Amino acid sequence: MSTQLLQTGILNESSLQINWSDYSDSVKTIHHYLEKKGAALTGWLNLPLENNDITLKAIQSVANEIKMCADVLVVVGIGGSFLGAKAIQDALTPYFDLHPNGIEVVYVGHNMSGAYMLQLIESLKNKNVYVNVISKSGTTLEPALAFRVLRKYMENRYGNDVQNRIIVTTDAETGLLKKIADNTGFRQFVIPENIGGRYSVLTPAGLLPLAVAGIDIVRLLDGAKKAALLLKEERLEKNEAYRYAVIRHSLYKRGYQIELLASFEPGLSKLHEWWQQLFGESEGKDKKGLYPSGVIFSTDLHSVGQFIQDGSPILFETILHFKETPTDCIVPYDVRNIDNLNYLSNRSFNEINAISKDGVIAAHAEGGIPVIQLELEKLDAYHLGYLVYFFMKSCAMSAFLLEVNPFDQPGVEAYKSKVLELMHKNIIYREWHA
Ligand code: PA5
Repeated sequence: MSTQLLQTGILNESSLQINWSDYSDSVKTIHHYLEKKGAALTGWLNLPLENNDITLKAIQSVANEIKMCADVLVVVGIGGSFLGAKAIQDALTPYFDLHPNGIEVVYVGHNMSGAYMLQLIESLKNKNVYVNVISKSGTTLEPALAFRVLRKYMENRYGNDVQNRIIVTTDAETGLLKKIADNTGFRQFVIPENIGGRYSVLTPAGLLPLAVAGIDIVRLLDGAKKAALLLKEERLEKNEAYRYAVIRHSLYKRGYQIELLASFEPGLSKLHEWWQQLFGESEGKDKKGLYPSGVIFSTDLHSVGQFIQDGSPILFETILHFKETPTDCIVPYDVRNIDNLNYLSNRSFNEINAISKDGVIAAHAEGGIPVIQLELEKLDAYHLGYLVYFFMKSCAMSAFLLEVNPFDQPGVEAYKSKVLELMHKNIIYREWHA
């Protein structure tokens, strides 16, 4: 069971007792429903296979301008209009030298912390600034508030030049942000109407910030294209994304409540958050769904590791591993050997990390925790493009197996309107009593 790019394997497959044949018909039916665009908001399915040259050229050209003229790009957005870009940026940029091929890209509008907002503005003082505000609906409170502050700041600082320095990414037709962009003449990129927020990482919502951060977005799309082609396969035994969906579903049916996505590279923690939003928002409906959670090993083995090994048996693990990372460090030989570590000298950290991964998997499997393994050759733009597409396709299948709609988010809308209602009530109440 393998493809050229991603290998999935399940420890103790026999002990998991997945009856694949039970699922083949429903997987085929859902596959055809998806491919025939039976469901709305499936534009992401074929996006990597389409000719995106015009959009890509426009993105590259604006990104080059920003890299030439600015020291920092401030990206305003939340949820799907934030996490995809941040996830891939964090996964592919060095830990300490943050922008070797691009410029600094920072994010705001994904919280309502006054301290964060103010400190961000203060940090811009001696830097040349561009802003990319991203919101599909154009009405989300957090980015709308942050954009109001930033727009004022940019107008005060740059006068008429603000028109060149603010770029809007939103729907082609609707929303307040679209209205603002049309009225002001800010340059615009479009999130296609048939692609929802958490499936939008490969649209300009993800691609513009990533290009500015110096990520090779062409390779990213190449990887996604490879996945889009390979994962068009309708047969369950040949489609890795569908197999992953079926394993999750069958574990859920057996009473598991939490899926832990575990990686051994700290730069992947935002990718976990992106995955968490994708699966959590797509599946958590009608009182159903697995709770998606992420852990970084070995860090978290020293915090929640005890619970994973011996606590309530409510979780299973999906281990995400990249065989090759961009850089590595060799353990030096030390003639004193007081720390008794010479047996590891001349070994690389990645090698040791990989051995520790195998040890963790063995211990967890012995402890009765079902373990799924996803393995990719290399941590680079190509393989991440493949992976995000793999997860999106899996997620759509998994949600339909659960008989929920992967593409809506009624719970989030409920929270959004409750907050707005309270906000209006509170402000009016305070004004009334002032
Ligand atoms: O997946 C989704 O649709 C949501 O999580 C949105 O991405 C998030 O709520 C932000 O919405 P918007 O881009 O409309 O501001």
